[in-house]
Amino acid sequence: MDKSEIDTPALIVDLDVMMRNIREMAKLARERDVKLRPHVKTHKVPEIAKIQVEEGGRGICVQKLGEAEVMAANGLNDIFITNEVVGQVKLSRLARLREQVDVYVAVDHPDNVSDLSRTMREQGLELGVYVDVDSGMHRTGVPPEKAPELAEAVSKSEGLYLVGIMAYEGHAGGPINREERISLINKAMEQTLLAVRLIRQRGIEVGEVSVGSSATVRYSSTFEGITEIQPGMYVFNDYYLVEREAATIDTCALHVLATVMSRPSPERGVVDAGSKTFHFDMNRYPIAVGIEGVEIVKFSEEHGWLILRGQAQEKIKLGDRLEFIPYHVCPCVNQFDILYGLRRDKVEKSWTIAARGKVT
Ligand SMILES: Cc1ncc(COP(=O)(O)O)c(C=O)c1O
Repeated sequence: MDKSEIDTPALIVDLDVMMRNIREMAKLARERDVKLRPHVKTHKVPEIAKIQVEEGGRGICVQKLGEAEVMAANGLNDIFITNEVVGQVKLSRLARLREQVDVYVAVDHPDNVSDLSRTMREQGLELGVYVDVDSGMHRTGVPPEKAPELAEAVSKSEGLYLVGIMAYEGHAGGPINREERISLINKAMEQTLLAVRLIRQRGIEVGEVSVGSSATVRYSSTFEGITEIQPGMYVFNDYYLVEREAATIDTCALHVLATVMSRPSPERGVVDAGSKTFHFDMNRYPIAVGIEGVEIVKFSEEHGWLILRGQAQEKIKLGDRLEFIPYHVCPCVNQFDILYGLRRDKVEKSWTIAARGKVT
């Protein structure tokens, strides 16, 4: 199948670029002597997760139990759910999954520790747990001062064992300004390593110290004491990462292929991809590639409103196919059933995005 035969809108991945991204991160992990646990919530495709493991990943990370179930059903067997798993319905599912594969979770509350312990005990299982430390993002996680208490609770709970801590510093990759990013990463690593020291002072061993987002990991992995990294977006990259100097246009492996479906005036066009295709969680539009003077300036659900400038006003015709780099790749991938893997305009792979929509 040729690229021209793919119906639009479609997700297309340049396989050479994707493989280079996967191998570069694996090389970075080897050089820094840390374990790489790729976060597969970006692509949600078991076959790509397997490639990441074969290329040097030690297991994978997922965000949701549902993603873990899909990955396990497809042969992945070392899965860290980098999230709190709360509520009896989910705990029962977790126990069933633990019977099949090595699965780990994050905790940030003693009640959750008790519930996990009871569930695992009842089933005669043992579950590995990471204490979730808030290193500055202020989403989930306990402050470093509270980490020893929780680590102790995990260590003393039947059916659970402490793997280490997780301290995701996603917030630190946010600022466009490099000095601000560096300053936030420094603070986050200081908090992370403080948590490790405080837990050890209680006489509790901390195995893994797991950090890292695609925007920060090249720097955060250099800190002494970090043992594991969990970046996700690096597999495809996106314009968010380009703006934060963690990617370039050329390393963005994933494009959305769209068709010009209306050409109302010389300076206006509309493509068949809107907010239901790209998603809009960061309030930023995708970037057109391979052509000058094309800008998406507005979304309807199924329409991307284009402004055309300069030669694009002449060049762009009804039915033309344009390519865009999503601003934030993860929610965009989650909108699709299929991911096409291409080499020089030939479709080599057609992957089912098996864990898309797995939000439970
Ligand atoms: C806990 C956790 N770990 C790792 C990641 C991967 O980070 P990124 O996709 O920025 O590489 C995320 C992303 O949201 C996350 O929430």
